[in-house]
Amino acid sequence: METLVVDHPLVAHKLTTLRDVRTDSPTFRRLADELVTLLAYEATRDVRVVDATVDTPVAPAHGVRLARPMPLVVPILRAGLGMLDGMTRLLPTAEVGFLGMIRDESTLKAQTYATRLPEDLSGRQCYVLDPMLATGGTLAAAVQFLFDRGADDVTAICLLAAPEGIAHMDDAFKGSGKPLRLVTAALDERLNEQGYIVPGLGDAGDRLYGVV
Ligand code: URA
Repeated sequence: METLVVDHPLVAHKLTTLRDVRTDSPTFRRLADELVTLLAYEATRDVRVVDATVDTPVAPAHGVRLARPMPLVVPILRAGLGMLDGMTRLLPTAEVGFLGMIRDESTLKAQTYATRLPEDLSGRQCYVLDPMLATGGTLAAAVQFLFDRGADDVTAICLLAAPEGIAHMDDAFKGSGKPLRLVTAALDERLNEQGYIVPGLGDAGDRLYGVV
């Protein structure tokens, strides 16, 4: 998996406040949203485009438009929802599919509990949104789901990643032959015994939406 840790002072600044235990939910949501837009800018560097010509008030100008089929943005419920607006701000014509996955806290394995995605993803560029790449179990299951439906190019956008998660993804998809990228704001130290990223930011879903 090709991994890009976005090195930008604004990303680092927003991430620092996001990590802070004193940051309340409304501020956390706003910062996560802004951070995703910055990450999305990097993540869409290879988005497919086609040549297009428009008439300016002065003369024809050559440019590009997004190619069809439109990219598919897939937030992984629940915490990935907190990244959706930040992503669609840059890609307003993208389609959005949903994947509900939950981590069994005893086995740390991912289970799918809801899907709302096109049956056939052939030829689609997909952008998966999941704030925390921890063990990698959830993200690997989500990416496999998209590949199984025919997606041929997947980019994961995560606020934070752990080395264990990246290793898991590398292992799961080595030799798959399909382009798979990760764009993240930081690569943290490790996972703790509970599967939390250290230093991390805690439970992203709880910090976005409260403990429910
Ligand atoms: N999920 C989270 O929300 N936080 C972590 O640190 C790991 C997984």
